[in-house]
Amino acid sequence: MKNVVRLAIVDPNDATRGSLKNLLLGIDSVWLEAECSRYEFFADVIQQTQPDIALISLDSDSAQGLQLVARISQELSSCCILVISSSQEGSLILQAIRNGAREFLSFPLKIEDFLAALDRIQQAQGGREGDGEIRSNHVITVAGAGGGVGCTSLAINLACVMAQHERRNVAIMDLDLALGDADVWLDIIPDYTIQDVAENITRLDYSLLKRSLTRHDCGAFLLPRPVQLDDMSTITPDELRRVIALLKATFTHLVIDLSKSFGPIDIAAMEASDTILLVTQLDLPCLRNIVRLTQFFDLHEGLSEKLKVVVNRQGLEDNQISMSKALETIGREIFWQVPNDYPSMVESRNNGLPLLSHAPRAKLTKSIEQLANSIDHSEVELSESEDRKQKKGLFSFLSSGSRG
Ligand SMILES: Nc1ncnc2c1ncn2[C@@H]1O[C@H](COP(=O)(O)OP(=O)(O)OP(=O)(O)O)[C@@H](O)[C@H]1O
Ligand SMILES: [Mg+2]
Repeated sequence: MKNVVRLAIVDPNDATRGSLKNLLLGIDSVWLEAECSRYEFFADVIQQTQPDIALISLDSDSAQGLQLVARISQELSSCCILVISSSQEGSLILQAIRNGAREFLSFPLKIEDFLAALDRIQQAQGGREGDGEIRSNHVITVAGAGGGVGCTSLAINLACVMAQHERRNVAIMDLDLALGDADVWLDIIPDYTIQDVAENITRLDYSLLKRSLTRHDCGAFLLPRPVQLDDMSTITPDELRRVIALLKATFTHLVIDLSKSFGPIDIAAMEASDTILLVTQLDLPCLRNIVRLTQFFDLHEGLSEKLKVVVNRQGLEDNQISMSKALETIGREIFWQVPNDYPSMVESRNNGLPLLSHAPRAKLTKSIEQLANSIDHSEVELSESEDRKQKKGLFSFLSSGSRG
């Protein structure tokens, strides 16, 4: 599993401390180093245990809690302070931040808010992989410019290739909620589906999330589509965002196989993604759809920037339009071209074996391997251009451990 961040908590109220503790204990990346029921003892606890994070609840006595924030921030600057309160009063938030708190969380605490706060701290402290090669918590959506263009083939094989790297932990989510076939590609008979996760998401049961994923031999984990067609409409974009947030906390890479409907669920997934691979073939209907989809993406803030066009089945004779003509039509560059190799691909699917096992030396497999690296590299380049490369900080280890 991912290396852990060590946390100490103070909350004089037994009930609220208990509920916070329960929530934190369910997070693999958090190790509850100490818990304390008295503000006056907490500074000593911090000195002795030297946690990475001090979580201070202000609700029992905000004045004492705020004083404690100031004291810990002065005495142990390496400890990152988070405060939590059921009050959202501006003056309280301001004072907490002035006294040295990094984040102000609201009680009752939502797991995704806590994880998002950890993520922000990690980002601020330059928490990227030591070798600069692999970006952590990377969400990649694979969308298609037409039916049958090869989204599932690429999503599955990309995830399996990524999972080969010992420092990557990869999950695949099948968001083709009606007819998704990711389980077929991996020859997996899953116990749970995205439906179970979405239904239980309000319980914030982190271990349930992990149990709901089925591990393939290649190392990638699958969260499949619902079993019943009726169930697909019951998942809301909000629930999906929460599922993605939880998966991001556990995996370095999440690959999402999107439906072709581009509905609210698909949009929510794309918004939560770092990269959107738009898979196309070089035929007229697909290229025309790319133009339409590009216009559609322009209407949604932040989507266009993440878009990368991938030409699949390059070299296929039928309906093939020249690359220069394609570039002219779609008006944007092509990020990657995957060669056509129907026998390898279709046999791989029919045998329920990823290309890596079925045709490891095929040009097709190599191309998908290079695509995986290219995605990670382009993310790193993007990050660097945004000048986010900072010194290795307190939380950099959060993204550097390998997970089992
Ligand atoms: N690079 C490739 N070379 C040859 N055949 C391919 C390639 N990629 C995909 N295929 C084949 O194309 C067909 C459709 O692939 P796939 O199911 O992945 O597409 P899709 O976009 O997910 O389809 P759907 O719209 O049904 O979700 C499959 O038979 C697959 O084997
Ligand atoms: Mg598909």
